[in-house]
Amino acid sequence: MSEDFHRIRRLPPYVFEHINPIKAKARAEGVDIIDLGMGNPDLPTPDHIVSKLQETVQNPRTHRYSTSRGIPGLRKAQASYYGRRFGVKLNPDTQVVATLGSKEGFANMAQAITAPGDVVLVPNPTYPIHSFGFIMSGGVVRSMPAEPNEDFLRSLDRAVRHSIPKPIALILNYPANPTAYTANLDFYAEVVRYCREQGIFILSDLAYSEIYFDESDPPPSILQVPGAIDISVEFTSMSKTYSMPGWRVGFAVGNERLIAALARVKSYLDYGAFTPVQVAAASALNGSDEVIGEVRRIYKHRRDVMIESFGRAGWYIPEPKATMFAWAPIPDQFAELGSLEFAKLLITETGVAVAPGVGFGEYGDQYVRLAFVENEQRIRQAARNIKKFMGSLSGTGNVVPLQGKK
Ligand SMILES: Cc1ncc(COP(=O)(O)O)c(C=O)c1O
Repeated sequence: MSEDFHRIRRLPPYVFEHINPIKAKARAEGVDIIDLGMGNPDLPTPDHIVSKLQETVQNPRTHRYSTSRGIPGLRKAQASYYGRRFGVKLNPDTQVVATLGSKEGFANMAQAITAPGDVVLVPNPTYPIHSFGFIMSGGVVRSMPAEPNEDFLRSLDRAVRHSIPKPIALILNYPANPTAYTANLDFYAEVVRYCREQGIFILSDLAYSEIYFDESDPPPSILQVPGAIDISVEFTSMSKTYSMPGWRVGFAVGNERLIAALARVKSYLDYGAFTPVQVAAASALNGSDEVIGEVRRIYKHRRDVMIESFGRAGWYIPEPKATMFAWAPIPDQFAELGSLEFAKLLITETGVAVAPGVGFGEYGDQYVRLAFVENEQRIRQAARNIKKFMGSLSGTGNVVPLQGKK
């Protein structure tokens, strides 16, 4: 019997499967690993959201199966959010579905709309589910540039003209993971115009809608473009905005036909998140935006500390305008290693874990991604460790490994 199942053969090990064993080994040897690898928010969920969960769970009626498209109050709260934040009016009954995190929503949307061999245009590098959601569904992925510029629009036209069959969908993700690129409404308007002409759906991942650092320039929604809703669905997440990654609550909103397709698939697969989780999520969305401001402030401060301290350590990192990541070019002297070997070297020599760019696609291999999920002191410590390592290289040519601190 063949050991390789058809689908599994198409799924390479997830980004962190290469790094985790090295991290675990170093930890077992007593090394204090500063983990900037995974984008797993470390901040606690705000108290009032946790209290709402505690209060709701006391009611035994909430212990029953919930509804797979989300309780009405949660869908209404998400529609209100789109209204006040983007000026986009949504019908909570037909244009909003609550998902078990945006990742689940994205993967099941891919499953809902993809026939074997369908072509989908996906940025490279990108968050893995953007491509593997379609690969798991039997689709074929054609890579697009990640950066939203003129070249993107030319590449889009080229991709559409040269793909047989014609692509069914385009994936957008701004602010982007891992690159932190951001897009403006003019860019969205161009892409919507083109995709409407060509009859191509747009799936926009707006997981970082609220994690931005220029208060005067919040990331827009593609649904702000007139007519976008005719072809587009957008995914958002409670994970980063409210520091609720473990709760598994996200949303898909937009085009009714796409939303209905997702809701149909989900109706066969799940009964929705635990009702108290949904009630608490609704109260978060209906509550004060102050808690979001606080999350933003913390990530911004960590970003500033990282850019400044790593810069002093000799590692220039461009300043991201949004997301909880810096997308850092591998320093010249290590460039030929590629991102996976460089990431391994960093853990063993400096105790700093990062995400290798190649885990997000082949065009990410000259970069690593650093997440703002450690506090200021530990980011500074990471910079010191890296500086010491770089110094040891330039001074003697010999690498002096960090010793375990028992
Ligand atoms: C771009 C992007 N989309 C989706 C997700 C997943 O979010 P959720 O926790 O809502 O599934 C992430 C998480 O890192 C992400 O970076």
